[in-house]
Parts: sequence; C-alpha cells; structure tokens
Amino acid sequence: MINAVSPVINNQRMSKQETKVSPFSAVERQKTIYTAGMSGQKPKIPIDLTQLETVAKDRISKEAFAYISGGAGKELTIGSNRNDFSKWQILPRMLRDVSEHDTSIELFGRKLPSPIMLSPVGVLEMAHKKADLAVAKAAAKLHIPYILSNQASTPMEEVGKVMGDAPRWFQLYWSKSYELVESLVQRAEASGCEAITVTLDTTMLGWRMQDLDLAYLPFLRGKGIAQYTSDPVFQSLVDKADHQARPDNRITLDTILALIDLMKTYPGNFFKNLRSGRPLKAVRTFINLYTKPSLHWSDLKFLRERTKLPIVLKGILHPEDAQIAIDHGIDGIIVSNHGGRQVDGSISTIQALPAIKKTVKDQIPLIIDSGIRTGADVMKALALGAKAVCIGRPYVYGLALDGQRGVESVIYNLMSDFELNMRLSGYKSIEELQPDILKFVP
Ligand code: GLV
Repeated sequence: MINAVSPVINNQRMSKQETKVSPFSAVERQKTIYTAGMSGQKPKIPIDLTQLETVAKDRISKEAFAYISGGAGKELTIGSNRNDFSKWQILPRMLRDVSEHDTSIELFGRKLPSPIMLSPVGVLEMAHKKADLAVAKAAAKLHIPYILSNQASTPMEEVGKVMGDAPRWFQLYWSKSYELVESLVQRAEASGCEAITVTLDTTMLGWRMQDLDLAYLPFLRGKGIAQYTSDPVFQSLVDKADHQARPDNRITLDTILALIDLMKTYPGNFFKNLRSGRPLKAVRTFINLYTKPSLHWSDLKFLRERTKLPIVLKGILHPEDAQIAIDHGIDGIIVSNHGGRQVDGSISTIQALPAIKKTVKDQIPLIIDSGIRTGADVMKALALGAKAVCIGRPYVYGLALDGQRGVESVIYNLMSDFELNMRLSGYKSIEELQPDILKFVP
C-alpha cells in the first residue's frame, strides 16, 4: 500500500492485528523544525548524525565516551564503515510523481513503518540514567524494533513492560553456561521478544585501545550486567562458584571507590551488598561465563531446539558463512562488524553486503548495521539487498544528550532523511530500491 505519509504505529496496548497507525511525514518534520526556528528554537541535538559524537563527548564521562565511541585497534574499520558508503552513488530519476510513497516493510510477519531498527548496545547507564528504558519508550513510540542488549543496564522484563506490544528482539551473547543461555532465551520469549539475535563476533572482546588506555571495563563495576543479575540461573551459578581465590591487586583509594560504585550499582541495599559481598561474587562469576571462544556452528542446534522464535545471526561478513547459516536453518542475518569494535581492518559492511546478497538471494532477510548515519546510507543498503538497517551509536548519543526525546529525534531525523532522499531520487517504495539505482565509484 502506498501512502501519502508513512505509517507510524503508535498504540502500544493493542494486539498486533489491531495496531493503529498514525501519520509520520518527513515534510511535517521539516515544517516543525523550521517553524520552531521562527520563535528562536533550535533543535536540541544536531540533525547531522555524524556530528552527534562530538557534541555528546562533553556530556558523558571519558570512560563512557571511550566505551561507546571506541573500536578495535586503530579503528580503521570504523572509518571504512563510513567511507565505503560514498563509493556507492545514487542515480536519481526525475518527473515520476512521488507525491505518494511508502517506507514500510514487513519483517518476520510484522508490518513496520520504516526499515530502521535499533542495534543492541550495552551499558546504556553510562550514557543516561534512564538507559534502556528511555530507548525502549522511544522505539515503542515510533514502532521501530529495538534489539535488547544482553549487556543491558535494565532487565528485559522491565523493558518489555514499557514497550507494550511494540516490536523488540533479544540479543544473545552465548555464555559458557548452556543453562544460562536457555534461561535468557526463555525470559526473552516471556518478555515479548520476537526474535533471538545471536552475536557471533564477540567470543572475546576486541583489542579496544581507548578502553585499555583507561583500564576501564564497565562490567567489572557491575554495569551492563542486569540481564545476568536478574537471572535465577545466573544467581544459582553465583552460589555454586568457588569464591576463594582473591586477586592480588594492591588495595588503593581507587579500589575502594570502584567497590563503592559496584555496591551502589548492584541491585538491592548498599549495606546488605557490602556485608554479603554478593556483587563482587556476581562480577567474578560473570567474568568467568561472559564469552565462549569455542562457540561453533554446531551449538546452534541447542538454540533451535529451545525456541520457536526466528534466529538471526549477527556478525556475518563472509558469503560462505551466510551459506552455512542457511544450511543451519537460520531465519535471518545481520551483516555486521559490531561497529568496528571487534576486528580492526575488517571489511566494511556495505562492501560485504553485495556478495552476501548474491549467496542468500531472497531466502532469508538480510539486515545491515555499522556506519549507517544518513538517509542515503539507508537507501544504498536497501538497494544492495538489505531488508532493514540498524543504527547503534547515534541513538546512544541522542540518549546521552536528551534521554528518550533525544533517541526519538535521532530516529525521526533518520526516517525523514531517508524518506526525502528516496522520494527526491524518484522512488516511491522500498521495492523500487534495486542495485541499478546505484553506481559504484571505487
Ligand atoms: C559488547 O558488549 C561490546 O562492548 O561491544
């Protein structure tokens, strides 16, 4: 269906069948901004998503900035993720009546107003105290799917509650404990998540020099481990773990401050936490279980047997891996290099996409993340075969700058930019965005 305005589905309490749509239009968005300007109001956060990082830098701690903005090694992949988009150029068409248009897509049976989704990002408490809840409310309001992070600051049940029937998925980091994996997946289903996204590329943390220079890992301070501390299986693993070994670090003022931070961050009463030492035990257990370097294709069977939800693999860059995913009955792929946080020098996702599309064809949906900052980027990704795109850092900076409203602005602005760029190029709907609308300029 082609609409004069794109639908934004806005009623959270209705069932999926009954969901009502209210209008969203890029032209209206422009009008609102320009009209507000007549009374001296400027947008609170930069419209250009590539500028957000610079502005947000002054609003968050240096540790938060390093963790959010940082990438692996020399951060070459962060650069290629952006730069490689400009190697594809759009060939606009004229005089094609683009008064009506439709930016909606259907993904795993869900009608969505736009092909934009939110990538999972951990430790959002470092950006804003309302963290995942603020992002969830913004995503729900605009009906943009939110992939809840395994390293969230808020348990998925609480996030699920504020999202009503709005679309969300769960991102799984495959832990060393299969029992914990099972528990997280069951909780995700019970929290209304509609797909399980398995992150494949983080079986160990990348060599992130910004974080290493600051010697700061948020998880050690109890941040970003809410999905674990709220999990009954994790808590029983804390009980069973051997807590005898003690690190032989010197106790300094910083150690004491970090411990106070941890006792405050950990759920429950500060003094009770201090007496029981539970937060420290939980962090140690987490560190022992967090990643699983031995993760292998053969593990996917375990997940398939435990969920009926679509399984989406995140982190595929090689067409042969895409084929193996299909051979394993996987339902979707996110072409991702984790925003350049894992393998420095890795291929950019927009460069990887065409070969993966050639292999996968239309068998399963492809989603792409890493480096998407403009409406043109979205157009290019869709033209090269993606069904949807995910953004990560931009919404986190929006969160840091203005909480839920900041996230809403980022999403609205990208939706508007995409809609206008598509229509101004002469295209009315996503189906029209095919490879031949682009020219490759190496
Ligand atoms: C994952 O948790 C990351 O830090 O990228």
